[in-house]
Amino acid sequence: MNLVWAQASDAAAMARAHAAAFETAWSADDLAALLTAPGAFGFLAGGAEAQGMILCRVAADEMEVLTLAVDRRARRQGLGKALVTASLAAGRQAGATRAFLEVSADNAAALGLYDSLGFRHAGLRKAYYARADAPAVDAIVMHLDLAPVRT
Ligand SMILES: CC(C)(COP(=O)(O)OP(=O)(O)OC[C@H]1O[C@@H](n2cnc3c(N)ncnc32)[C@H](O)[C@@H]1OP(=O)(O)O)[C@@H](O)C(=O)NCCC(=O)NCCS
Repeated sequence: MNLVWAQASDAAAMARAHAAAFETAWSADDLAALLTAPGAFGFLAGGAEAQGMILCRVAADEMEVLTLAVDRRARRQGLGKALVTASLAAGRQAGATRAFLEVSADNAAALGLYDSLGFRHAGLRKAYYARADAPAVDAIVMHLDLAPVRT
């Protein structure tokens, strides 16, 4: 897997990867600002082809996955898992002992991915994600304890 540590200059490619996976895309400017915020980091997959991206943040001993996207044409090939796995390792290196994320209760693919990585349900935010022509959907909060870095 061709994963690179994302720089602010990768924001346009990350925005393309994000737009290929989500109806509400995040702009390159927004992603550049997020990437340069304290504790933030991300990975880009597929170089200029931008097949996938992940953006995370570490604050104190907690890591959060802010967004994760894999292009529809590149799914079920292990890319999502590789992006999360690389990020968990980076978060651990940065001092995180727990990882958190929020995922829509109707997102079977993401729930399957996080479950396969050992994430467990930690809570529920009722009616968290608005839907255009349907009732809002709950967010499931998931967490994973991170093994300490061996020195
Ligand atoms: C969720 C997402 C990132 C998964 O990316 P991916 O590259 O297809 O995932 P992987 O190929 O690494 O899948 C790893 C495991 O996750 C689970 N999984 C992935 N897609 C799944 C699906 N559609 N249904 C059920 N389980 C799924 C499986 O256990 C899979 O292992 P397997 O292929 O050996 O069965 C991708 O579907 C996506 O970008 N979705 C839209 C954006 C999104 O929902 N982001 C997450 C927001 S929290």
